[in-house]
Amino acid sequence: MGTKKPWSGRFKEATDALVESFTASIQFDRMLYQYDIRGSIAHCRMLKKQKIIAPAEAAGIIAGLKEIEQEIEQGKLAFTARLEDVHMHIESRLIQKIGPTGGKLHTARSRNDQVALDVSLYLRDAVIDAIRLLDRLQETLLSMAEKHIAVSMPGFTHLQHAQPVLFSHHLMAYYEMFTRDRERMESCFARVNRMPLGAAALAGTPYPIDREYVAQLLGYPRVTANSIDSVSDRDTLIEFCSAGAVAMMHLSRFSEELIIWSSPEFQFVELPDSFCTGSSIMPQKKNPDVAELIRGKTGRVYGNLMALLTIMKALPLSYNRDLQEDKEALFDTVETLKGCLAVFTALLPKVKINEQQMEKAAHQGFTTATDLADYLAAHGIPFRDAHEITGRIVASCISSGKTLEDLTLAELRKFSSTIAADALSFVTVEHSINSRAAIGGTARQTVKIAIKTARAELKKQRRFIATAAPSWHRG
Ligand code: ARG
Repeated sequence: MGTKKPWSGRFKEATDALVESFTASIQFDRMLYQYDIRGSIAHCRMLKKQKIIAPAEAAGIIAGLKEIEQEIEQGKLAFTARLEDVHMHIESRLIQKIGPTGGKLHTARSRNDQVALDVSLYLRDAVIDAIRLLDRLQETLLSMAEKHIAVSMPGFTHLQHAQPVLFSHHLMAYYEMFTRDRERMESCFARVNRMPLGAAALAGTPYPIDREYVAQLLGYPRVTANSIDSVSDRDTLIEFCSAGAVAMMHLSRFSEELIIWSSPEFQFVELPDSFCTGSSIMPQKKNPDVAELIRGKTGRVYGNLMALLTIMKALPLSYNRDLQEDKEALFDTVETLKGCLAVFTALLPKVKINEQQMEKAAHQGFTTATDLADYLAAHGIPFRDAHEITGRIVASCISSGKTLEDLTLAELRKFSSTIAADALSFVTVEHSINSRAAIGGTARQTVKIAIKTARAELKKQRRFIATAAPSWHRG
């Protein structure tokens, strides 16, 4: 009796068992149980306030829902495909516990707006969690950039030594990326933060409901404006998965660099034993599996975004059962993103930076050749010719096994009489770095200011969590 379908009145045949398991979503939407109960309690309080149900009935329903929450937490509620989804499990258990009054909870509501509310509540939490995790990563990057401000490294283009940069400047590049990821999450939050319940099946409900009151109870600043839209779009899920995919892309690039940098060919960094694994056959191996897995998991997060976009494409308004397919993609993105951010942020401060090796590499590969060309250009030689002359100097260094900094003034002047004594200091790594002093450049003073500015900005960004985040999530 407890598993009787709520729509059984119209049906002459029982649901085929194959269809029951095919249409069930309880295996994954059980994740939403806390949100479903929180939403139902708010809905019930509104029904009472509007005198749609009696106070005693509301009290019984709310007490029952709270007990069911405990039961689910303690693993006492059995889940079955016959009851399809989390909403029907909770409702049917409620009726089982408190009798027919339990059936009044669904007054003025449909599973269509109910699931929209559940997912919105879930997503609000997920966005705030992601922002908090990004915040910790940003903080970690700032501390690392401050700590290693003295260290230079070769900046790369095409994975070839290009120009020397500060290691801190390289770290701050990632800081900027994660800052934008955070901004994307914050902007997404504003659109998730609208309360959809009250749309009912699609057209709204004739009951005298008070949607604003439900919104207030659940900490939403406003309600959604259109009932059809409320039950049929999933664009905020797509936005989250898109922002998540971009953040994973950034994590993946950083992971890739750690993988390359920790190779014996680079030796820029050493990964902590506690974040690496060994090989079952090669005793000498220490593998960067955490970084590799983050890189690999980026693929599934991209896939989830594609799945959602494809589910939504060409769906006619309003609700269609296709929409049930949104949840696994969303949940997987949330879990994967949060897991990767957490493990990467734990890993970073434990990475040993081989400062000497980075410094050494900064001097290799003629990283200051552009500076020498700039020097010649500054002394009146057209840049194209300056480029050509410098290229010849580099070629001769390659055959003699020297760096640009090794060359004496006499050796340099063989290539151009324009070169004077001050050129020697011009081609040093230190000079090259510190000459790039405009905003956004790698000069040490500029990077120090960039870190300071970022710290101040981060402090301001934190106000978002303190103010926009609903009170029940402030921790
Ligand atoms: N499990 C469903 C989903 O996730 C809940 C809504 C069902 N609505 C319906 N009309 N069948 O979309």
